Amino acid sequence: MTPDSATLLDSLRSAVGSDHVLTDADLRASYETDWSRRWHGEALAVVRPASADEVAAVVRACAATGVAIIPQGGNTGLVGGSVPRTHATRPQVVVSTLRLRELEPVDLLAGEVTVGAGATLGMLQAHVRPAGFGFGVDLGARDSATVGGMVATNAGGIHVLRYGPMRMQLVGIEAVLADGSIVRRLPGMLKDNTGYHLPSLLAGSEGTLAIITRVRLRLVPLLPRRAVALLALDGTAAAVTLAGALRSSLPSLAAAELFFDEGLALVLRRGGGERPFREEHPAYLLLEVESRVDPTDELAAAIDAAGEVVRDAVLASDGPGRERLWHLREGHTEAINAEGVPHKLDVALPLGRLAGFVDRVRAAVKEAAPSAACYLYGHVCDGNLHIGVIGPPAEDEGVDAAILRLTIEMGGTISAEHGIGVAKVDWLEADRSGADVAAMRAIKRALDPAGLLNPGVIFRE
Ligand code: FAD
Ligand code: MLT
Ligand code: ZN
Repeated sequence: MTPDSATLLDSLRSAVGSDHVLTDADLRASYETDWSRRWHGEALAVVRPASADEVAAVVRACAATGVAIIPQGGNTGLVGGSVPRTHATRPQVVVSTLRLRELEPVDLLAGEVTVGAGATLGMLQAHVRPAGFGFGVDLGARDSATVGGMVATNAGGIHVLRYGPMRMQLVGIEAVLADGSIVRRLPGMLKDNTGYHLPSLLAGSEGTLAIITRVRLRLVPLLPRRAVALLALDGTAAAVTLAGALRSSLPSLAAAELFFDEGLALVLRRGGGERPFREEHPAYLLLEVESRVDPTDELAAAIDAAGEVVRDAVLASDGPGRERLWHLREGHTEAINAEGVPHKLDVALPLGRLAGFVDRVRAAVKEAAPSAACYLYGHVCDGNLHIGVIGPPAEDEGVDAAILRLTIEMGGTISAEHGIGVAKVDWLEADRSGADVAAMRAIKRALDPAGLLNPGVIFRE
């Protein structure tokens, strides 16, 4: 250990207490590898502050020694941004937000709540439910993903078609900047046009501009009655058209999720369960409706009205039945991960091109990696397709490049909801214009001139 490292560790211990500076390799391990196991790096320490002031002291200590800071929440991110870099040019410290978990009382008049960045989505949902509220963003990693991480990635998930992504739920923020100063504006007022909106800037900043410590969020009315249907369709084009039509004809529509038979078979093989339909079909569309009154009849009527495009359908209103159907979609992520270290891509296409993309991306994967297994699934109303490829070694980027090249060629975006992370740094400039990237770099330089916060994420170091 260098004298600088020893000094830093002393400062970190006095900032947060010795128990919360983890230097032992076994204790650091789960913070050093990402959820997909594709990215890994070594940290000098994992630090677990319990307040914004402690985070600020940690940041100042790292800044004084030029040590890089890797902010981390639930470590469920899928682009490698939450763990230390393998080929880091300087020592790195992981700053875990998991002790920043305070849940303040729900503001019933404003329909808002302020919570610590380290609270999980599941904790937030359980906290606001008794007050008659729900939260507009939901996703499969709800029991581990933190609110701060979700803001930092501008997470999307299954309800974007109704409420938008994380940025649209964000009213206020408290965050520690790279110089250790704390910006704090948690106003409880939806209207606040006093200059630049820092919450919007930090949403999607992936830990490169600040460490988020608390957030003020908008809530949505709790819609406790639900029904789920799984439809068997002719293909992606039918799913896109039907889901698009249902956006206006089925006002209770809350989720519309697409998947295919390869993924369904894998989920059943890995997780057990019965096939929902006797035959295989070209595409499956899972629909969820939510309302204050039982929306089952409304959903059934919409399926009937869709006519012959629906080859087969199953519908569930009871909790276990709904969960069984959701598992067929949400189970994809775990099932693919269980097959090996996945190449995970998360793209979005203009809706009119999604079906063409599905055909072409399968062919592109086959050409780049002929023996690979390829699983497609996603949030159809957002044009958002996830592509999980198993086979090529983690460090072989051929298949990733083939998919991203096709996405850009077809006018899509290389990241719909997971971010750029380290996974796509080399692709940012192919997706965004030179002027866009220059403006982003200027913001980064202004707020973090020494490049301490999450170096190598969004921009190559
Ligand atoms: P982490 O993984 O810890 O970090 C993610 C990024 O945010 C990193 O760059 C990190 O440095 C930064 N960061 C974390 N906390 C802070 C903070 N307080 N301040 C500043 N920067 C911070 N994502 C979706 O968008 N939609 C989905 O439907 C979805 N489903 C998923 C399902 C599964 C099973 C899994 C494993 C992941 C899924 N994800 C999904 C991805 C992931 O859950 C989200 O990206 C989530 O927002 C990450 O939250 P986290 O707390 O785990 O962040
Ligand atoms: C999902 O929608 O399931 C997630 O974004 C995670 C994934 O891409 O597997
Ligand atoms: Zn997703």
